[in-house]
Amino acid sequence: MKKNLTSKLLMNMWCEFWQEKGHKQVKGASLIPNANDTSVLFTTAGMQPLVPYLLGEKHPQGTRLFSIQPCLRTNDIDEVGDNRHHTMFFMLGNWSLGDYFKKEAISWSWDFLTNPKWLDIPKNRLAVTVFKGDETVPCDNTSAKLWEEQGMPKDKIFFFPKKDNWWEMGGGVGPCGPDTEIFFDTGKPSCGEHCNPSCDCGKWVEIWNNVFMEFLIKTEGGQLSKLPNQNVDTGMGMERVVSVLNGYKSTYQNDCFAGAIEKLELLSNKKFDFDNEQGRNFAIICDHIRASVFLLGDENPTVPSNVGQGYILRRLIRRSVNCARNLEINVKELVLVAKEFIEFYADFFPQFIDKQNFILDELNKEILKFEQAIDSGLKEFNRIIQQKNNGETIDGITAFHLFDTFGFPLELTIELAKKHNINVDKKGFEKAFAEHQQKSRDASSGMFKGGVAVAVDENEKLKLAKLHTATHLLHAGLHKFVSPDANQRGSNITTERLRFDFACDHKLSQEELEKVENYVNDAIKADVEITCEEMSLEDAKKSGAIGIFESKYGEKVKVYTMGNFSKEICGGPHAGRTGELGKFKIQKEESSSSGVRRIKAILID
Ligand code: ALA
Repeated sequence: MKKNLTSKLLMNMWCEFWQEKGHKQVKGASLIPNANDTSVLFTTAGMQPLVPYLLGEKHPQGTRLFSIQPCLRTNDIDEVGDNRHHTMFFMLGNWSLGDYFKKEAISWSWDFLTNPKWLDIPKNRLAVTVFKGDETVPCDNTSAKLWEEQGMPKDKIFFFPKKDNWWEMGGGVGPCGPDTEIFFDTGKPSCGEHCNPSCDCGKWVEIWNNVFMEFLIKTEGGQLSKLPNQNVDTGMGMERVVSVLNGYKSTYQNDCFAGAIEKLELLSNKKFDFDNEQGRNFAIICDHIRASVFLLGDENPTVPSNVGQGYILRRLIRRSVNCARNLEINVKELVLVAKEFIEFYADFFPQFIDKQNFILDELNKEILKFEQAIDSGLKEFNRIIQQKNNGETIDGITAFHLFDTFGFPLELTIELAKKHNINVDKKGFEKAFAEHQQKSRDASSGMFKGGVAVAVDENEKLKLAKLHTATHLLHAGLHKFVSPDANQRGSNITTERLRFDFACDHKLSQEELEKVENYVNDAIKADVEITCEEMSLEDAKKSGAIGIFESKYGEKVKVYTMGNFSKEICGGPHAGRTGELGKFKIQKEESSSSGVRRIKAILID
């Protein structure tokens, strides 16, 4: 087994291995899904930014790709604090876009895992599972045979149904297929005669998933159809692999948390021990502050707010503050923990160094805001508590009122109530929260379902493409008539409307709005062709293209030009000509967060 495996070493090996096999690195994409993913809050899997290419679009970097993708999942947010759950984690992935299929994928997985040059895992500590088949897709005997050819004993190849060996995106819509999962034997005693990789006794831990993506589900609950290509999509959870191969008891023993833990030990004068309540506070801070650094330092930065991604960030920061209080740390010193992460990841995410001031300032602001809120919220909380008897419950609406008006996160209400032996109706809170989301026109309620909308219907695709084109024209107009620094801070497009966030320190005047709107409509009237060129990032910059310069696609980027109206770096897709758009209308201009304004606009046929 590889000695002294660290996350940095694993990330480096991952790059070297796939480059050797002719793959190109796709730079880790934003944690905020691209403008066409209208209903998912965060990037939750390495393949997510590649959906259009898995569906058949040509990728500018070719057919063999790999990445180290930061992902954020909020479904287990309440579990964070134990020895293995995280919100943000890194997924190592490799892809074949209609290039190689099962044979190479399996033999390369085996090579990376067992070859002494790479992870050097003893072969007898591995087992695999393959898809057993059902009425629509046959048993994956091919994969089983390929594993056998690698030297995997028959009794270590397990056949499981769809619930275990099938991968599809949240919500079920999108590219999907049977998978083969690779498990590592932790050396724990088996739980009995029937112990196998699907049981959760802890003996077997999944370390890598290879999905053979050749199918597509077009609509929720819809039937399977074939994708144009047979693709491979794999995912390896970095923190988990480093920790199981080192025999760690907690993923927080991973080298990426070492600096932060050391800092917390120093600040709190307490030792980290993942086995006790104190350790939970350490783990939560490590996870949540790391995720906050990545959200704030993202190319499409999230700032704390009460809706959408901003709400999750607010929760992460505020929960860290609570944990810091539990550890008797001066909460303002949490920025020092953030600094540890910025430094640790500087080799892989050098932009964090440039953005350090912004990240730390925003974090600091939110901590101070929360401190103030707690002071006034505590008075209200005490008033509520005085009216309760031992064992009673604070109802959901009251808990939501504490959150909405005083910024009290639910966790804090629960924690404080517990000290008085009072319960909190968590479900009721969630219901009140959901109702608030529904009411708030800002939040698209679908976002909280966790599904990814993939526009497969041609009509929908067209609507999204047109609004995407309009977004570029709007961006260009803002640069021209509002400020040359009116850079994109966020974009969200549904089939109904576009929503665009941009840097700007003032409310737009009626005159500015009219100029921008007219600019877009003039571009539409001019009916210019929309052209796309691939070029290096350097050339794109030289050509005067605007857009996000931290390329997701490494060397080559696509630049879309619309006559003299707009030139912008982007992955597409767009309308063919501006004349296809109809009439552009700004519906609303408002504040999104400090220094960021938001425009909502529609196209009228
Ligand atoms: N897309 C697969 C996963 O996330 C590899 O597990």
